[in-house]
Amino acid sequence: MNPVLELRGVTRTHGTGETAVHALRDVSLAVAPGELVAVMGPSGSGKSTLLNLAGGLDRPTAGEVCVEGASLGGLSKRQLARLRRRSVGYVFQALNLLPSLTAMENIALPLELDGSGPRASRRAAAEALDEVGLDGLGGRFPDELSGGQQQRVAIARALVGERRLVLADEPTGALDSQTGEAVLRLLRTRVDAGAAGVLVTHEARHAAWADRVLFLRDGVLVDTAGPLARPEDLLESAQ
Ligand SMILES: Nc1ncnc2c1ncn2[C@@H]1O[C@H](COP(=O)(O)OP(=O)(O)O)[C@@H](O)[C@H]1O
Ligand SMILES: [Mg+2]
Repeated sequence: MNPVLELRGVTRTHGTGETAVHALRDVSLAVAPGELVAVMGPSGSGKSTLLNLAGGLDRPTAGEVCVEGASLGGLSKRQLARLRRRSVGYVFQALNLLPSLTAMENIALPLELDGSGPRASRRAAAEALDEVGLDGLGGRFPDELSGGQQQRVAIARALVGERRLVLADEPTGALDSQTGEAVLRLLRTRVDAGAAGVLVTHEARHAAWADRVLFLRDGVLVDTAGPLARPEDLLESAQ
């Protein structure tokens, strides 16, 4: 199957000369539909840079990023914005919910911006809310929701519509472990339904939800591992 995301020899350098920072060096990677890839590595190793490039929020200094077969470098600003809204779901560390919009409106916004009618957008938003276990809370404003509920709204917003690529940068942030697991389960479900996913995490037990784990160090992809064992899998195999 054609990969949803492909990075070919991607380098991202900030600045020039002696003060240049090589955030990412010659990274190649392909993520297929139904595949969730975890990215691990120390702080400053280039994890967020990789996600920003994959989502078209940043442009590489060298190399090529392709999403659903389209080379991002060849797109106009407008085409890139459209591809981001349609195809890419991005879960940021900071939630970026708009405080003056309800949970439902926050989720429906990307669809409306992309030209869906208000009714179709609300219907899709209601489904996404249901998917994250927040049905009935769509009328609440972000400050009327707990931190965990806000995080789920952000996830619902990233998953709404038919996004083929889901990018999550330490999406479990400061969540309690139960809510964090619920968020990862959602991500996994979406990927199992045919999306491609990239999950940045520093916790092995979160990376265990992935099919493959990549390790970054100083902007270089140093290692790749298959699936890590999940605690529950270990328990099962012991039974
Ligand atoms: N806009 C920028 N200007 C200069 N250096 C940057 C910029 N963004 C990131 N960097 C540097 O690039 C490296 C990788 O950063 P980042 O991708 O945020 O790492 P991580 O997410 O793994 O912590 C770091 O050394 C960081 O300081
Ligand atoms: Mg980061």
